[in-house]
Amino acid sequence: MDSGEIPAALTHVYDASAERAHRLISRLQKKPQLVANHHLLSSQSIDLVVEAASQDAVRDAALSVLQNRKDLMIMSAGALLDESVFAVLEDACREFGRTIYLPSGAIAGLDGLASVRSELEEVTLTTTKHPDSLRGAKFFAAHDMSADEITKPTTIFRGPARNAVSMFPANINVAALLSLAGLGAQRTEVSIVADPSATKNSHRIEARGRFGRMTFLTENVPDQDNPKTSRLAALSAVEMLRRICSEGIRVGT
Ligand SMILES: NC(=O)c1ccc[n+]([C@@H]2O[C@H](COP(=O)([O-])OP(=O)(O)OC[C@H]3O[C@@H](n4cnc5c(N)ncnc54)[C@H](O)[C@@H]3O)[C@@H](O)[C@H]2O)c1
Repeated sequence: MDSGEIPAALTHVYDASAERAHRLISRLQKKPQLVANHHLLSSQSIDLVVEAASQDAVRDAALSVLQNRKDLMIMSAGALLDESVFAVLEDACREFGRTIYLPSGAIAGLDGLASVRSELEEVTLTTTKHPDSLRGAKFFAAHDMSADEITKPTTIFRGPARNAVSMFPANINVAALLSLAGLGAQRTEVSIVADPSATKNSHRIEARGRFGRMTFLTENVPDQDNPKTSRLAALSAVEMLRRICSEGIRVGT
Protein backbone atom coordinates (compact mmCIF):
# COMPACT_ATOMS: atom_id res chain seq x y z
CA MET A 1 0.00 0.00 0.00
CA ASP A 2 2.73 2.38 0.99
CA SER A 3 4.53 1.51 -2.24
CA GLY A 4 1.37 2.14 -4.25
CA GLU A 5 1.24 -1.48 -5.40
CA ILE A 6 -2.20 -2.04 -3.84
CA PRO A 7 -4.95 0.49 -4.61
CA ALA A 8 -5.74 1.24 -0.97
CA ALA A 9 -4.55 3.58 1.74
CA LEU A 10 -3.63 2.79 5.33
CA THR A 11 -5.34 5.70 7.05
CA HIS A 12 -5.34 4.78 10.77
CA VAL A 13 -3.28 2.64 13.13
CA TYR A 14 -3.97 1.42 16.66
CA ASP A 15 -1.56 -0.55 18.84
CA ALA A 16 -1.82 -1.11 22.59
CA SER A 17 1.83 -0.04 22.62
CA ALA A 18 2.01 3.55 21.35
CA GLU A 19 5.75 3.13 20.99
CA ARG A 20 5.33 0.22 18.57
CA ALA A 21 2.70 2.16 16.62
CA HIS A 22 5.07 5.13 16.29
CA ARG A 23 7.83 2.80 15.16
CA LEU A 24 5.59 1.45 12.38
CA ILE A 25 4.40 4.90 11.30
CA SER A 26 7.96 6.22 11.17
CA ARG A 27 8.79 3.63 8.51
CA LEU A 28 5.92 4.62 6.21
CA GLN A 29 6.04 7.37 3.61
CA LYS A 30 2.32 8.12 3.74
CA LYS A 31 1.68 8.62 7.45
CA PRO A 32 -1.52 7.08 8.89
CA GLN A 33 -3.16 8.68 11.90
CA LEU A 34 -2.54 7.05 15.28
CA VAL A 35 -5.73 6.45 17.27
CA ALA A 36 -5.96 5.80 21.01
CA ASN A 37 -8.26 2.79 21.07
CA HIS A 38 -10.05 0.28 18.86
CA HIS A 39 -13.38 2.13 19.07
CA LEU A 40 -11.73 5.08 17.35
CA LEU A 41 -10.56 2.73 14.63
CA SER A 42 -13.90 1.18 13.88
CA SER A 43 -15.78 4.48 13.95
CA GLN A 44 -13.68 6.01 11.13
CA SER A 45 -14.88 6.26 7.58
CA ILE A 46 -12.90 3.24 6.36
CA ASP A 47 -13.74 0.01 4.53
CA LEU A 48 -11.57 -2.60 6.23
CA VAL A 49 -9.81 -3.14 9.56
CA VAL A 50 -6.78 -5.45 9.55
CA GLU A 51 -6.06 -7.23 12.84
CA ALA A 52 -2.40 -8.28 13.24
CA ALA A 53 -2.22 -8.04 17.02
CA SER A 54 -3.41 -10.92 19.24
CA GLN A 55 -6.31 -13.23 20.00
CA ASP A 56 -7.32 -10.77 22.75
CA ALA A 57 -7.60 -8.04 20.15
CA VAL A 58 -10.03 -10.21 18.18
CA ARG A 59 -12.11 -10.91 21.29
CA ASP A 60 -12.12 -7.20 22.29
CA ALA A 61 -12.58 -5.44 18.97
CA ALA A 62 -13.95 -7.68 16.21
CA LEU A 63 -17.63 -7.35 17.07
CA SER A 64 -17.45 -3.57 17.29
CA VAL A 65 -15.72 -3.43 13.88
CA LEU A 66 -18.55 -5.42 12.29
CA GLN A 67 -21.23 -3.44 14.13
CA ASN A 68 -19.67 -0.30 12.66
CA ARG A 69 -20.15 -1.90 9.25
CA LYS A 70 -16.51 -2.45 8.37
CA ASP A 71 -15.03 -5.63 6.95
CA LEU A 72 -12.31 -7.29 8.99
CA MET A 73 -9.15 -9.23 8.19
CA ILE A 74 -7.98 -11.45 11.04
CA MET A 75 -4.44 -12.81 11.42
CA SER A 76 -4.96 -14.21 14.95
CA ALA A 77 -7.16 -16.97 13.53
CA GLY A 78 -6.79 -19.08 16.69
CA ALA A 79 -9.37 -16.81 18.36
CA LEU A 80 -12.05 -18.29 16.09
CA LEU A 81 -11.60 -21.79 17.48
CA ASP A 82 -13.53 -20.56 20.51
CA GLU A 83 -16.99 -21.62 19.37
CA SER A 84 -18.75 -18.78 21.15
CA VAL A 85 -16.46 -16.18 19.51
CA PHE A 86 -16.99 -17.82 16.11
CA ALA A 87 -20.78 -17.89 16.49
CA VAL A 88 -21.03 -14.25 17.62
CA LEU A 89 -18.85 -13.02 14.74
CA GLU A 90 -20.58 -15.16 12.14
CA ASP A 91 -23.97 -13.82 13.26
CA ALA A 92 -22.63 -10.25 13.18
CA CYS A 93 -21.31 -10.70 9.62
CA ARG A 94 -24.79 -11.77 8.55
CA GLU A 95 -26.62 -9.08 10.50
CA PHE A 96 -24.40 -6.20 9.33
CA GLY A 97 -23.66 -7.56 5.86
CA ARG A 98 -19.89 -7.65 6.43
CA THR A 99 -17.09 -10.12 5.65
CA ILE A 100 -14.28 -11.51 7.80
CA TYR A 101 -11.21 -12.45 5.76
CA LEU A 102 -8.75 -15.04 7.08
CA PRO A 103 -5.54 -15.07 5.02
CA SER A 104 -3.87 -18.47 4.59
CA GLY A 105 -1.10 -17.24 6.86
CA ALA A 106 1.90 -19.53 7.22
CA ILE A 107 0.43 -22.43 5.18
CA ALA A 108 -0.70 -23.24 1.66
CA GLY A 109 -3.50 -25.47 0.43
CA LEU A 110 -6.58 -24.03 2.17
CA ASP A 111 -8.17 -23.43 -1.23
CA GLY A 112 -7.91 -27.12 -2.16
CA LEU A 113 -8.94 -28.31 1.27
CA ALA A 114 -12.06 -26.13 1.35
CA SER A 115 -12.99 -27.31 -2.15
CA VAL A 116 -13.08 -30.95 -1.05
CA ARG A 117 -14.49 -30.27 2.42
CA SER A 118 -17.58 -32.42 1.87
CA GLU A 119 -15.42 -35.39 0.84
CA LEU A 120 -12.70 -35.18 3.51
CA GLU A 121 -12.09 -38.15 5.77
CA GLU A 122 -8.79 -37.25 7.43
CA VAL A 123 -6.63 -34.14 7.86
CA THR A 124 -3.30 -34.13 9.67
CA LEU A 125 -0.86 -31.31 10.35
CA THR A 126 2.75 -31.83 11.39
CA THR A 127 4.42 -28.62 12.50
CA THR A 128 8.18 -28.67 13.03
CA LYS A 129 9.86 -25.78 14.83
CA HIS A 130 13.03 -25.08 16.72
CA PRO A 131 12.36 -25.51 20.47
CA ASP A 132 13.12 -21.79 20.91
CA SER A 133 10.06 -20.98 18.78
CA LEU A 134 7.88 -23.03 21.13
CA ARG A 135 9.35 -21.64 24.35
CA GLY A 136 6.78 -20.25 26.77
CA ALA A 137 3.99 -22.59 25.57
CA LYS A 138 1.70 -23.85 28.34
CA PHE A 139 2.61 -27.39 27.27
CA PHE A 140 6.04 -27.22 28.95
CA ALA A 141 4.67 -26.17 32.35
CA ALA A 142 1.89 -28.77 32.12
CA HIS A 143 4.46 -31.52 31.45
CA ASP A 144 7.10 -30.22 33.83
CA MET A 145 9.51 -30.01 30.94
CA SER A 146 11.79 -27.35 29.47
CA ALA A 147 12.48 -26.53 25.82
CA ASP A 148 16.20 -26.68 26.73
CA GLU A 149 15.97 -30.43 27.40
CA ILE A 150 15.20 -31.19 23.75
CA THR A 151 18.44 -32.25 22.05
CA LYS A 152 17.08 -34.19 19.06
CA PRO A 153 13.92 -34.01 16.87
CA THR A 154 11.08 -34.94 19.26
CA THR A 155 7.33 -35.18 18.72
CA ILE A 156 6.20 -33.41 21.87
CA PHE A 157 2.47 -33.23 21.10
CA ARG A 158 0.00 -35.33 19.19
CA GLY A 159 -3.75 -34.74 19.39
CA PRO A 160 -6.74 -32.87 18.00
CA ALA A 161 -6.33 -29.22 16.99
CA ARG A 162 -8.70 -28.31 19.84
CA ASN A 163 -6.15 -29.56 22.43
CA ALA A 164 -3.21 -28.04 20.56
CA VAL A 165 -4.90 -24.65 21.01
CA SER A 166 -4.79 -24.83 24.76
CA MET A 167 -1.21 -26.17 24.91
CA PHE A 168 0.39 -23.94 22.24
CA PRO A 169 -1.84 -20.84 22.02
CA ALA A 170 0.83 -18.70 20.33
CA ASN A 171 1.61 -21.31 17.68
CA ILE A 172 -1.85 -22.41 16.74
CA ASN A 173 -3.10 -20.11 13.99
CA VAL A 174 -2.15 -22.65 11.35
CA ALA A 175 -4.09 -25.46 13.07
CA ALA A 176 -7.05 -23.12 13.49
CA LEU A 177 -7.09 -22.17 9.81
CA LEU A 178 -6.87 -25.81 8.81
CA SER A 179 -9.73 -26.74 11.14
CA LEU A 180 -11.93 -23.93 9.87
CA ALA A 181 -11.32 -24.85 6.21
CA GLY A 182 -11.64 -28.60 6.70
CA LEU A 183 -12.92 -31.00 9.33
CA GLY A 184 -13.14 -28.80 12.43
CA ALA A 185 -10.95 -28.66 15.52
CA GLN A 186 -11.91 -32.06 16.93
CA ARG A 187 -11.13 -34.05 13.78
CA THR A 188 -7.97 -32.24 12.63
CA GLU A 189 -4.99 -34.17 14.00
CA VAL A 190 -1.95 -32.11 14.99
CA SER A 191 1.61 -33.21 15.74
CA ILE A 192 4.21 -30.77 16.96
CA VAL A 193 7.87 -31.66 16.51
CA ALA A 194 10.56 -29.72 18.34
CA ASP A 195 13.77 -29.98 16.33
CA PRO A 196 16.93 -28.25 17.60
CA SER A 197 18.44 -28.43 14.11
CA ALA A 198 15.43 -26.77 12.40
CA THR A 199 16.27 -23.52 10.63
CA LYS A 200 12.76 -23.02 9.23
CA ASN A 201 9.21 -23.42 10.54
CA SER A 202 7.67 -26.20 8.51
CA HIS A 203 4.06 -27.29 8.19
CA ARG A 204 3.15 -30.55 6.48
CA ILE A 205 -0.53 -31.05 5.76
CA GLU A 206 -1.96 -34.34 4.56
CA ALA A 207 -5.58 -34.75 3.60
CA ARG A 208 -7.38 -37.86 2.42
CA GLY A 209 -10.91 -38.61 1.32
CA ARG A 210 -13.21 -39.59 -1.54
CA PHE A 211 -11.58 -36.93 -3.74
CA GLY A 212 -8.12 -38.57 -3.43
CA ARG A 213 -5.15 -37.26 -1.44
CA MET A 214 -3.42 -33.93 -0.98
CA THR A 215 -0.08 -33.11 0.61
CA PHE A 216 1.17 -29.59 1.22
CA LEU A 217 4.54 -28.70 2.66
CA THR A 218 5.61 -25.18 3.53
CA GLU A 219 9.09 -24.46 4.86
CA ASN A 220 9.02 -20.90 6.06
CA VAL A 221 11.84 -18.48 6.64
CA PRO A 222 11.21 -15.94 9.39
CA ASP A 223 10.10 -12.47 8.37
CA GLN A 224 13.06 -10.10 8.17
CA ASP A 225 11.34 -7.43 10.28
CA ASN A 226 9.61 -9.78 12.71
CA PRO A 227 11.48 -13.08 13.24
CA LYS A 228 8.60 -14.52 15.32
CA THR A 229 6.43 -14.54 12.21
CA SER A 230 6.94 -16.44 8.96
CA ARG A 231 7.55 -14.33 5.90
CA LEU A 232 4.77 -16.24 4.11
CA ALA A 233 2.22 -15.13 6.74
CA ALA A 234 2.92 -11.46 6.07
CA LEU A 235 2.92 -12.00 2.29
CA SER A 236 -0.38 -13.89 2.44
CA ALA A 237 -2.03 -10.92 4.18
CA VAL A 238 -0.71 -8.59 1.48
CA GLU A 239 -1.99 -10.89 -1.25
CA MET A 240 -5.43 -11.08 0.35
CA LEU A 241 -5.54 -7.32 0.60
CA ARG A 242 -4.61 -7.08 -3.07
CA ARG A 243 -7.53 -9.36 -3.94
CA ILE A 244 -9.97 -7.43 -1.78
CA CYS A 245 -8.92 -4.17 -3.43
CA SER A 246 -8.79 -5.42 -7.02
CA GLU A 247 -11.39 -6.02 -9.67
CA GLY A 248 -10.96 -8.25 -12.69
CA ILE A 249 -9.63 -11.75 -13.13
CA ARG A 250 -9.20 -13.86 -9.99
CA VAL A 251 -6.89 -16.84 -10.04
CA GLY A 252 -7.36 -19.68 -7.57
CA THR A 253 -10.43 -20.90 -5.72
N1 LIG B 1 -2.40 -16.69 10.52
C1 LIG B 1 -1.10 -16.99 10.62
O1 LIG B 1 -0.57 -17.90 9.99
C2 LIG B 1 -0.25 -16.14 11.52
C3 LIG B 1 1.13 -16.11 11.33
C4 LIG B 1 1.87 -15.27 12.16
C5 LIG B 1 1.27 -14.55 13.17
N2 LIG B 1 -0.07 -14.66 13.35
C6 LIG B 1 -0.76 -13.95 14.43
O2 LIG B 1 -0.85 -12.58 14.10
C7 LIG B 1 -0.80 -11.80 15.30
C8 LIG B 1 0.30 -10.76 15.17
O3 LIG B 1 1.55 -11.42 15.04
P1 LIG B 1 2.92 -10.62 15.17
O4 LIG B 1 4.00 -11.61 15.02
O5 LIG B 1 2.88 -9.41 14.30
O6 LIG B 1 2.84 -10.17 16.71
P2 LIG B 1 3.71 -9.06 17.46
O7 LIG B 1 3.66 -9.45 18.90
O8 LIG B 1 5.03 -8.86 16.80
O9 LIG B 1 2.89 -7.71 17.24
C9 LIG B 1 1.61 -7.56 17.74
C10 LIG B 1 1.35 -6.08 18.02
O10 LIG B 1 -0.02 -5.97 18.40
C11 LIG B 1 -0.13 -5.21 19.62
N3 LIG B 1 -1.27 -5.76 20.36
C12 LIG B 1 -1.39 -6.97 20.94
N4 LIG B 1 -2.60 -7.11 21.51
C13 LIG B 1 -3.27 -5.96 21.27
C14 LIG B 1 -4.56 -5.50 21.59
N5 LIG B 1 -5.42 -6.26 22.29
N6 LIG B 1 -4.93 -4.27 21.19
C15 LIG B 1 -4.06 -3.49 20.49
N7 LIG B 1 -2.82 -3.86 20.16
C16 LIG B 1 -2.43 -5.09 20.55
C17 LIG B 1 1.20 -5.39 20.33
O11 LIG B 1 1.47 -4.27 21.16
C18 LIG B 1 2.18 -5.52 19.17
O12 LIG B 1 2.72 -4.26 18.78
C19 LIG B 1 -0.55 -12.79 16.45
O13 LIG B 1 -1.76 -13.12 17.10
C20 LIG B 1 0.00 -14.01 15.75
O14 LIG B 1 -0.28 -15.20 16.47
C21 LIG B 1 -0.83 -15.41 12.53
